[in-house]
Amino acid sequence: MKIVTVVGARPQFVKAAAVSNVLREKHGEILVHTGQHYDENLSDVFFDELDIPRPNYNLGIGSGSQAWQIAEIMKAIEQVLVNEKPSCTLVYGDTNSTLATALVSARLNIPIAHIEAGPRGGDKQNPEEQNRIVTDHLSTWLFCNTAAAAQNLKAEGLVSGTHVVGDVMCDAMMRFSRKVEGMPAHMLRSKVEPLFGTWAHFPETWYLATIHRAENTSHGDTLIQILGALDRLDKPVIFPVHPRTQKLIKEPERYTNILFARPTGYLETIYLLKNAIGVITDSGGLMRESYMLRVPCTTVFNATANSETLTGNWNALTRPRTEDILAKVYRKNIELDNHPNFYGDGHAAERIRDELQTG
Ligand code: UD1
Repeated sequence: MKIVTVVGARPQFVKAAAVSNVLREKHGEILVHTGQHYDENLSDVFFDELDIPRPNYNLGIGSGSQAWQIAEIMKAIEQVLVNEKPSCTLVYGDTNSTLATALVSARLNIPIAHIEAGPRGGDKQNPEEQNRIVTDHLSTWLFCNTAAAAQNLKAEGLVSGTHVVGDVMCDAMMRFSRKVEGMPAHMLRSKVEPLFGTWAHFPETWYLATIHRAENTSHGDTLIQILGALDRLDKPVIFPVHPRTQKLIKEPERYTNILFARPTGYLETIYLLKNAIGVITDSGGLMRESYMLRVPCTTVFNATANSETLTGNWNALTRPRTEDILAKVYRKNIELDNHPNFYGDGHAAERIRDELQTG
């Protein structure tokens, strides 16, 4: 099958690292990078570290308002699809690059394969939720990472084309965490670069934090509440900062417990996560990864589309208020023996490859 795969944002590069090379064993793949993420630390570093095939097209779209970005990606993707005439397009997750590709593919009558179909957070004002819903309803192949995601699709009347294959992020985690274990810690630590000034030393124990959702970064006060909590935690907090968040951080020197870092590549992120005593995040990917590695997670968000991570209180949701965040991070109710494997066996990509061959 000739497949046009479209990626654009950081988590999609990790997913492509798990899928592209496996897909190419039985299919022809054209890889398109929309340029939604373009900073070296948000894009190139992933291609370099993870052995992802070089994109055949880089559309160089960049940042703008949500509508502008979606429209620009749609115009550019239309040209690619008209030129390439693929048998299907393949998209990941819930970004604007995913939605734009799905809309254009549907208009051109090109079947869509959606990897990570079916998660629902229940909040239709959330842009990612909108992207997920529209993409799922336009797709021919709905590859779900969990049984719960398939149930969500069934509740919306989507049954045919649904396949529970496991989580391609689990594929990536299994493959690359072995690589991280074989790398010297000093090499990984040297790639975690301070964002503002220098650090006196690399901490012995730490929490890992990432905050980038529009909901948490649109109002300065929300971010101040979150930073206030991180600053009061009992151990240092390593915080790789998304450029969107960086713009809002005022007087970083005030936060003496927070080690602000430039965005980290995948291998460094896995190292920081594996060795963290806890994670504070609003990233759907990081909350699943912390569950996979049995690291307690606190999610600064009112809902999660990855509700399985709440099992055994391994993940806990909190409002973006300092006291609420601290109370959740220090919770004592994690059930160590209650930790089912939701994400499969690390072979999701093979199932997707084979289903596309027969389907
Ligand atoms: C996007 C996805 C989100 C995903 C996240 C991963 C949507 C709606 N959201 O959010 O689901 O979890 O990627 O990181 O698609 N910027 C830069 N350099 C870059 C990229 C972005 O400076 O390389 C800045 C720009 O100011 C931009 C802002 O970050 O406006 C937001 O970027 P955008 O791609 O719109 O959304 P993310 O927050 O990254």
